[in-house]
Amino acid sequence: MGQPEEPESGPGTGAGAGSRKRRIGVGMVGYAFMGAAHSQGWRTVGRVFDLPCRPEMAAVCGRDGDAVRAAADRLGWAAAETDWRDLIARDDVDLVDICTPGDSHAEIAVAALAAGKHVLCEKPLANTVEEAEAMAAAAEQARARGQVAMVGFNYRRLPATALARQMVAEGRLGALRHVRVTYLQDWLVDPGFPLTWRLQREVAGSGALGDLGAHIVDLAQHLAGEPLVGVSALTETFVRERPLPAGASSGLSAAGGSGGGLGAVTVDDAALFTGRFASGALASFEATRFATGRKNALRLELNGERGSLAFDLERLNELSFHDHTEPGVTAGFRRILVTEPDHPYLEAWWPPGHGLGYEHSFVHQARDLVTAIATGVAPEPSFADGLQVQRVLAAVEESAAKNAVYTPVVPPATDTDSDSPAPSASSV
Ligand SMILES: NC(=O)c1ccc[n+]([C@@H]2O[C@H](COP(=O)([O-])OP(=O)(O)OC[C@H]3O[C@@H](n4cnc5c(N)ncnc54)[C@H](O)[C@@H]3O)[C@@H](O)[C@H]2O)c1
Repeated sequence: MGQPEEPESGPGTGAGAGSRKRRIGVGMVGYAFMGAAHSQGWRTVGRVFDLPCRPEMAAVCGRDGDAVRAAADRLGWAAAETDWRDLIARDDVDLVDICTPGDSHAEIAVAALAAGKHVLCEKPLANTVEEAEAMAAAAEQARARGQVAMVGFNYRRLPATALARQMVAEGRLGALRHVRVTYLQDWLVDPGFPLTWRLQREVAGSGALGDLGAHIVDLAQHLAGEPLVGVSALTETFVRERPLPAGASSGLSAAGGSGGGLGAVTVDDAALFTGRFASGALASFEATRFATGRKNALRLELNGERGSLAFDLERLNELSFHDHTEPGVTAGFRRILVTEPDHPYLEAWWPPGHGLGYEHSFVHQARDLVTAIATGVAPEPSFADGLQVQRVLAAVEESAAKNAVYTPVVPPATDTDSDSPAPSASSV
């Protein structure tokens, strides 16, 4: 794949320009919100972490020639393409980073894997279970050829959530009883907000469910270390018609309504669901774009028989921990400031107390993916993990269509009856 490998240099030499480490050429499709966030990750990762390889921002792809060339200059990409097929075909691209809406994920990812490229794909993995199954099967076949594929569930890669995962895995919470997660935004409250792609089922797959719900389902399963086996759900579309956008729009913003009339909103505005884990632990989820005053409020709490953990994305350098084995007179939630060099990802950053932000999750995502490519260890979340999330989303929609009837999550097929790989036990 790509250019011949260069000899590895010794540790501590950095992976910036001029390094003789093995080069990994990155080609990114889409350059708006996530494209900018991923670019930040690719620009920064080799200058902060001592990587085994040297990622290079080879080319970015969009559909408008002038706009994509301007984006390449602004974001730091060496070249620009206007067709993702040409991006995949480039010899200097080893890894395809997909930052487009869900309707194009499957086609681009399957083609990139078939062409021998590694793939990073934004969440949700796809718009349907069928697409996600095809992608997971393609990733499994590519794995046998030494390629890797990963889904962009970046909230796993904040130091506080990564520490929470470690603490659950170490048994600090004991047997889990409850996982409680909400992801609240308010950017759709105005009925005059235009009908952007995130409100169209054929492009986005679903609404708050696939956008916000996918994140919290992945995070809940990741932290619990086990899959959801069934759900009971309600969804609602509060504003069913919206102005058609006047001009170019991204998912979260548009230049106001049009003079062009109204169009139907074909996705959910909010999704509420309960879930049952394989162990019997119970979960509750709320994903909405109508929580006035809440901008990007992802909050979670886990209660186990030995203790509890709580996290709030608006205070992302902190984790709250209650150790229930302590004497009751002094026990209680205490704040862990997750900025110590021994905390996940923090060995490379600033002195204790100098916190990180949202964008650092994308730097960590790039670090973990590059490390996986260099070491040959399959990265997580895998496409099989993304497929598992997709199965949960499908069960939520099925349950909501039946007014919250409890609906099992279709279990992963076994090797004997399908090509679909099972999610990795360690990651869900
Ligand atoms: N990980 C996260 O926290 C997070 C946050 C927001 C969005 N996302 C996901 O990222 C993906 C993109 O969302 P976004 O918010 O960046 O959307 P966006 O509208 O801001 O950007 C989409 C980009 O894709 C481009 N595009 C669309 N179709 C294309 C095609 N066929 N060929 C080339 N370019 C194409 C658009 O021109 C645009 O540059 C979605 O899957 C979304 O769910 C993830």
